[in-house]
Amino acid sequence: MAKKELLYEGKAKSVYGTDNPDELIAVFRDDITAFNGEKKDQFSGKGVYNATVSAFFFSMLEEKGIKTHFIGMIDERTMLVSKLKMIPLEVIGRNRAAGSLVKKFPFENGQVLNPPLVVTDYKNDERGDPPICDDIIYALGLLTPEELKEVREMALKINKILFEFFDKLGLVFVDFKIEFGRLGDEIVLGDEISMDSMRLWDKETGESFDKDVYRFGKGDVMSAYGRVVEKIEEWKRQNI
Ligand code: C5P
Repeated sequence: MAKKELLYEGKAKSVYGTDNPDELIAVFRDDITAFNGEKKDQFSGKGVYNATVSAFFFSMLEEKGIKTHFIGMIDERTMLVSKLKMIPLEVIGRNRAAGSLVKKFPFENGQVLNPPLVVTDYKNDERGDPPICDDIIYALGLLTPEELKEVREMALKINKILFEFFDKLGLVFVDFKIEFGRLGDEIVLGDEISMDSMRLWDKETGESFDKDVYRFGKGDVMSAYGRVVEKIEEWKRQNI
């Protein structure tokens, strides 16, 4: 599949057109950013890690009945995806209190959230991705009440699948961000599912294996991401 014009450049991915108007190519770059782009770096191989993990999870979710934009890998950092009309919402799932939740509300860091929370931010860098409530989602025409219910249900299902999977790897799936888009009449999972957009803590030690390592200078982010990839590869060897 030939890569055509650059359509969109995000903080860590570039999206290109293809010969097929219904398909796009997403290239996972080595860029890493935090705090809405205030901190940025490049780490060789980081894009490959995130593409590999995203492809693995998209395939796993598809097998379990979740529709995603994933079609296949073109090379180790390049994904072929269905073209979606993206919905500008960051759908955030939380199994433990961490990050902005602890900053904004009186939760203890690490506090178990049962049932898990699903909340939404409006995806808009200039406005700082503000939290958005249901009524504003409807008033902006982003989703109907029925569609929001469906998105929440999908997010909870994805959360359950990933939580159970990471538990087997000895990791706590603390929280995550996903994005959805429209494909015809359907709402499907888009974007990526990687260590850039989730928190993962070692079940025993609480050590982070996610972007917090980079955000807060907690160590070598490439070793942390690499460890997650290794754990997944190990699981695959034993299970596939
Ligand atoms: O920062 P906060 O605690 O709200 O983040 C919740 C989860 O969503 C974290 O896993 C974080 O990495 C992810 N996130 C993201 N992109 C954003 C905001 C949050 O991937 N713009």
